[in-house]
Amino acid sequence: MTAEAVNPDDIGRHYDERSPIGDELRNGQIHMWYWYDREDDATLTEAVHRITRKVTETLGLRPGEHVLDAGCGPGETAVFLAKTYGVEVTGVNVSAFELERAHERARDAHVAGQARFQYGDFMALPFPDNTFDAVLALESLQNAPELDQVLRELFRVLRPGGRISFSDFSLESDREPERVAKFMATLRLDRLPTLPQWLDHLRAAGFAVEEYTQCGTRVFGRKAKYVEAAMARHDEITAKFGEAAVTEFSRNHHGFFAPKKDQIGYVVVSARKPYR
Ligand SMILES: C[S@@+](CC[C@H](N)C(=O)[O-])C[C@H]1O[C@@H](n2cnc3c(N)ncnc32)[C@H](O)[C@@H]1O
Repeated sequence: MTAEAVNPDDIGRHYDERSPIGDELRNGQIHMWYWYDREDDATLTEAVHRITRKVTETLGLRPGEHVLDAGCGPGETAVFLAKTYGVEVTGVNVSAFELERAHERARDAHVAGQARFQYGDFMALPFPDNTFDAVLALESLQNAPELDQVLRELFRVLRPGGRISFSDFSLESDREPERVAKFMATLRLDRLPTLPQWLDHLRAAGFAVEEYTQCGTRVFGRKAKYVEAAMARHDEITAKFGEAAVTEFSRNHHGFFAPKKDQIGYVVVSARKPYR
């Protein structure tokens, strides 16, 4: 299933427009949430941070290692990794807004020397071969114009034996394809692989798949809890950004909620670049 083609400049503008309110709502993490069940009373910030932890724990980071955060958003994840694991992080993305916020965050957290950010298209990275010990792509591969190319590029910059972990959406049921098409158009997705297709793409790039999970029920399946948490902050967000911006933000995300709960999965995958 494919939607319209994407390019990095358009994607950069897409995030420049949507990330300011997204950043405020989710505290610097422009990605999904994880709630165990409807009774789970974790805040939105905590639910979103659970995804950060869930994905980054699979990297097995050690102090002093160098991590590429490919599609790093407004920087909270890189700051978290620098502070929690004592690693060096290089974050790249294509949104001017996100890069500015990422620099601010690292400065405020006193890790600017450890968490660095630069404009970079992950389809053609400005780094030599074998630069990084680990690569993270938290919900960013979804925006790649060509999945095999970005995975080959991430493979190239990873050292032999280095690890990659990513999380992203998967297609679980296309029984009502018009709902899925609305979701994809809203998020500017060019494709929506199934979990086996994600794994095939990784293997085609040369990676050895080591671990994977599909937890969509606790992620997209909890979209009602997200709406509830976001609506609870409606007045505060409106006071900060203005009525027109909040209305536009909601309108832009309408299609995201179109699929049924079980149609959209969420995969967390970890793999390795083989040693020689
Ligand atoms: C859904 S956001 C996730 C951001 C971040 N990983 C997080 O979890 O908070 C997708 C990110 O991918 C980045 N991105 C999209 N296309 C990209 C490209 N071609 N090269 C680098 N980054 C890209 C966007 O700028 C954005 O930061």
